[in-house]
Amino acid sequence: MIEKLINRLNKDLNDRKEKNLYREVKLYSGYRCNLSSNDYFQLRYHPKVISKAKEACEIYGTGSGASPLLSGFLPCHKDLLDEILKWKQKPSGMLFNSGYAANQSILKYLPGKNDLILADRLVHNSIAQALKKCPAKFKRYGHLDLDDLEKLLQTHQEQYESIFVITESVFSMDGDYPNLNSLVALKKKFPFVLVLDEAHGTGVFGPTGGGLAEEMGVLPEIDILVGTLGKSLGSMGAYVLANNQSIIEYLTNEAGEYIYSTFMSPAQAAAALQAVKLIKKYDTKRKKLRELSKYLRKAVNPSSEKYLSPIVPVLIGDSLKTIKIRDVLLEKGILVGAVRPPTVPANTSRLRVSLNSEINKSVVDELLNILEDGKKC
Ligand SMILES: Cc1ncc(COP(=O)(O)O)c(C=O)c1O
Repeated sequence: MIEKLINRLNKDLNDRKEKNLYREVKLYSGYRCNLSSNDYFQLRYHPKVISKAKEACEIYGTGSGASPLLSGFLPCHKDLLDEILKWKQKPSGMLFNSGYAANQSILKYLPGKNDLILADRLVHNSIAQALKKCPAKFKRYGHLDLDDLEKLLQTHQEQYESIFVITESVFSMDGDYPNLNSLVALKKKFPFVLVLDEAHGTGVFGPTGGGLAEEMGVLPEIDILVGTLGKSLGSMGAYVLANNQSIIEYLTNEAGEYIYSTFMSPAQAAAALQAVKLIKKYDTKRKKLRELSKYLRKAVNPSSEKYLSPIVPVLIGDSLKTIKIRDVLLEKGILVGAVRPPTVPANTSRLRVSLNSEINKSVVDELLNILEDGKKC
């Protein structure tokens, strides 16, 4: 019986190999510089963050021991949630085990069958997959194209009970971002529930690292704010914050990803809390990160210079060539991500460079030199 299954799986896997789209987990070693992580301030190595994680293990043990509604929600989780609520200026919120689970929960349980979701065409897989599972209808608008979004809002505003608009702040594969002021202005014209995923904006933007919404002064207008602990905060997990307590209560009662999963470990919560405290004061590091981004973008894609995020895509197009250049960089000691379809659209395979505040311009120069050689592959 199992042969048929294995044959089908192998056929699919071979097909991926032929198209250079096969994915595998690798233990990368021998590099000097990791430009493939989302830890934009390298806080996962910070002595204070490590020490708080150790301390939490000693106080609470290595695991939370249960799902949050049983006994998994511990004082270290409450401390973290309180700190994040203050930081992001929201009255209510909850923690999730991952950003993936948070996005799944928001879209699977909040929109109803009489609602419409409008999502940017390039939203992260955690959102895209949830769109297919929710009872509401959904439509995609052009990437960052708020005119397209406006047309959709205009056409559909009378037909649905509620309209949700969901976008990332900093897009995970392109490093670009929408004008949140224009998005909020649109919300005043055609009311909708605004969901913003600040996975990659948190820490990097805003006077206290509160994210792109803080930077653009629109935090109060974001109805549902998602952020992760696994990127700039050097830990793992996520949070969902809302202007309205009912949203959080409803998810607490309905979201299987929250209710039926062992809660994040005390060490993860304590590490993230310490990281938030540090990152708030990282203004100089934020400035440096922007300068590095500007410098690299100018060299690889000057038209993207207005975006100052640390995610810088180097478009290659062909999947095999993308892997070959990644390997050349790795041989010379620099690790970058090689991202291929279906993570990104067809023929847009790319190297995904994730900068961090602890490197210097000389590393970017080195990267550019190797890229120049690598492109001859
Ligand atoms: C925009 C965005 N949202 C959500 C997630 C998922 O977050 P997590 O890694 O915590 O599951 C990611 C992770 O890559 C992301 O890039």
